[in-house]
Amino acid sequence: MEKPTKIAPPKGKLGVLLPGMGAVATTFIAGVEAVKRNHARPFGSLTQMGTIRLGKRTEKRVPLIRDFVPLANLNDLVFGGWDIHGETCYETAIRSGVLGPEILDKVRPQLEGLKSWKAVFDRKYVSRLKGNQVKKAKNKYELALQLVEDIQDFKRQNKVDRLVMLWCGSTERYLQPGEVHSSLSRFEKGLKSNDPEIAPSMIYAYAALSMGIPFANGAPNLTVDIPAMVELAQQNKVPVCGKDFKTGQTYMKTLIAPGLKSRLLGLNGWFSTNILGNRDGEVLDEPMNFKTKEESKLSVLDHILQPELYPELYGHFDHMVRINYYPPRGDNKEGWDNIDIFGWLGYPMQIKVNFLCRDSILAAPLCLDLVLFLDLAQRATMHGIQEWLSFYFKSPQCAPQLYPEHDLFIQLMKLKNTLRYLRGEDLITHLGLEYYD
Ligand SMILES: NC(=O)c1ccc[n+]([C@@H]2O[C@H](COP(=O)([O-])OP(=O)(O)OC[C@H]3O[C@@H](n4cnc5c(N)ncnc54)[C@H](O)[C@@H]3O)[C@@H](O)[C@H]2O)c1
Repeated sequence: MEKPTKIAPPKGKLGVLLPGMGAVATTFIAGVEAVKRNHARPFGSLTQMGTIRLGKRTEKRVPLIRDFVPLANLNDLVFGGWDIHGETCYETAIRSGVLGPEILDKVRPQLEGLKSWKAVFDRKYVSRLKGNQVKKAKNKYELALQLVEDIQDFKRQNKVDRLVMLWCGSTERYLQPGEVHSSLSRFEKGLKSNDPEIAPSMIYAYAALSMGIPFANGAPNLTVDIPAMVELAQQNKVPVCGKDFKTGQTYMKTLIAPGLKSRLLGLNGWFSTNILGNRDGEVLDEPMNFKTKEESKLSVLDHILQPELYPELYGHFDHMVRINYYPPRGDNKEGWDNIDIFGWLGYPMQIKVNFLCRDSILAAPLCLDLVLFLDLAQRATMHGIQEWLSFYFKSPQCAPQLYPEHDLFIQLMKLKNTLRYLRGEDLITHLGLEYYD
């Protein structure tokens, strides 16, 4: 057994800062408020419902994760955030059409008491949206300073002890890592010279990391996945992770693809299409915003199937992903996958998946887990990229010399082993020879 890591106790309130208070953010907030009052159960959340096996199978030690590591209590979470529309969270939740009156009526006062703050926003990055409460400043650096002020006010008014920021804003247009992202000093110069390669999400992340606030990115924008932000996170000893919540279709893909590979079944093609009618779908209807999402969705299969190691099985498959904006469907996305596979002696087979999911219902518990785990990481003095949180993302962030780990079950093992490591418990390798000595 290793020595346990020192973890500061979760004393006081934890402020949850959300740039982008749309369908996902309000479903998350409404859910936490409902769970706190025992109106509903936190299904889908590992921190609330998951267990962890400790020691040998014969020891029968399987505590709840929340009893094993010191996580913040839901009663200590306080929410705040920015958006371009100036609605209360209740208005947004009604408009988003995810939750019905059976939940919303019960948490209405809490949601009505939360109104978004003026956003850092620019239509150049999300052309389908038009903001009616947007900050103005002479350059991007000053915008970051205004965000810092918002955070300080929030902290003071709510007597918050610790903070976490989680990007739940729209997917920004496609950007590639460039010169201005390559170091902190170049990035700071870029903020002052209004460099167009610095998107609003990066300005939020810069403000957070400068203040020592952990940051996670629920969308596929680059945001903290650039050397400048990793440098800032290292310098200020802050944990970061991202990108793009792994829900819906990609979640299914990371369940099925490792299964095919484990049985050495080959792949000729994987065609994925979706219909989606919420605001996220509308933003993604714009080709340059969809490109950001497409990159994130496409990368998964190559990393899981490793065509370079298995050229006969995975060297030549076609992989296509489509998202069609179809307003009648609202947040209740429907996804279809057609998977052309082959087995023994090359005989072809097909798998069809039709997933009728609810996007924000799948994403909300991920928001909760990320907030609680990032706060835990901060109190355990873990900083920089938190690869153990890959479990939650379509495009996990990892060190530049590594490829990201996409297999959901390896990701879960990594997450649980990190928790065991923090508490000084033996890591579980699943070798199991000791039972047969
Ligand atoms: N729901 C899922 O399953 C899922 C999965 C993966 C990723 N995501 C991503 O999560 C994000 C949120 O999804 P959603 O369904 O809540 O979308 P949404 O459109 O309902 O909410 C996004 C909100 O962000 C706001 N916004 C945009 N730019 C902003 C800025 N610069 N500052 C402040 N606010 C800004 C918009 O006005 C909107 O209210 C999207 O980027 C989406 O692609 C969602």
